[in-house]
Amino acid sequence: MDGGGNGQQADRIGGTPLTWITGASSGIGQALAIHLANAGGRVALSARNTGDLAATARSSAERMRIFPLDVTDREATAATVAAIESTLGPIDRAVLNAGTHIPMSLGDFSADTARRLMEVNYMGVVHGLEALLPRMRARGRGHVAVVASVAGYRGLPTAAAYGPSKAALINLCEALKPDCDRAGIRLQLVCPGFVDTPLTARNGFPMPDLMPVEDAARVLADGLDSGGFEIAFPKRFTRKLKLARLLPYRAYFPLVRKATGA
Ligand SMILES: NC(=O)c1ccc[n+]([C@@H]2O[C@H](COP(=O)([O-])OP(=O)(O)OC[C@H]3O[C@@H](n4cnc5c(N)ncnc54)[C@H](OP(=O)(O)O)[C@@H]3O)[C@@H](O)[C@H]2O)c1
Repeated sequence: MDGGGNGQQADRIGGTPLTWITGASSGIGQALAIHLANAGGRVALSARNTGDLAATARSSAERMRIFPLDVTDREATAATVAAIESTLGPIDRAVLNAGTHIPMSLGDFSADTARRLMEVNYMGVVHGLEALLPRMRARGRGHVAVVASVAGYRGLPTAAAYGPSKAALINLCEALKPDCDRAGIRLQLVCPGFVDTPLTARNGFPMPDLMPVEDAARVLADGLDSGGFEIAFPKRFTRKLKLARLLPYRAYFPLVRKATGA
């Protein structure tokens, strides 16, 4: 583990660790909830769709509890964190994963789309952090993982609304990490490439190194247990995008054009 305070140990203090996952009704969040519960953890699941949350929780009823939430609602997020802690005890670890994608390019450029994605993907995480961090700071321990995306590394075609919301999360985590380290809170950044979920099922283009969601959940869980600041997967694809981050614009734009046909 890198210099992330004592959060990893804290996860195990007092017996079975409790993880809160947002966006747990589908895709990566759902697969992670099932993986952690199968491994013996306790999981609090949040998302808007109560029926899907309940169906997920039925797979491991004694280990999962549902707390329906729209993460764009600041007060509801604070109330949900309070409800989880008063019902189940302190949240040892939170995976702020709720998010969505709406493609946006020149032809459909819209402030509504940009605002919606910032509200869900960025402010949704900010609301979670605002509710969690003071509690973890007071306890001197805690662990939070924020799910961003490799689309936040650099600008990519059709991601003119999604990319900025994820880039903002990356910057936010970088800015907060030193403070969190000092407070004993382990902060991690999760940057997936393409994972096979209902979100990516809407993509009408070939997705390189598309990862099955169960594999993504396993790699993510391993990263939560023992990874450094950033958990990026699948490795082959995310390594390429990390390299592309270093390119000057005169090399970056021709590469993007070649890779995406944009
Ligand atoms: N799949 C990929 O390739 C990929 C790549 C990079 C990053 N990511 C990120 O990974 C995260 C999970 O994505 P996924 O692929 O698993 O997508 P998904 O299958 O569509 O799941 C998204 C989850 O977020 C929840 N959600 C959406 N809006 C919400 C809101 N306002 N309040 C609360 N929950 C909300 C959804 O549940 P409800 O609709 O029930 O609220 C659902 O549980 C997202 O942040 C996404 O940006 C995914």
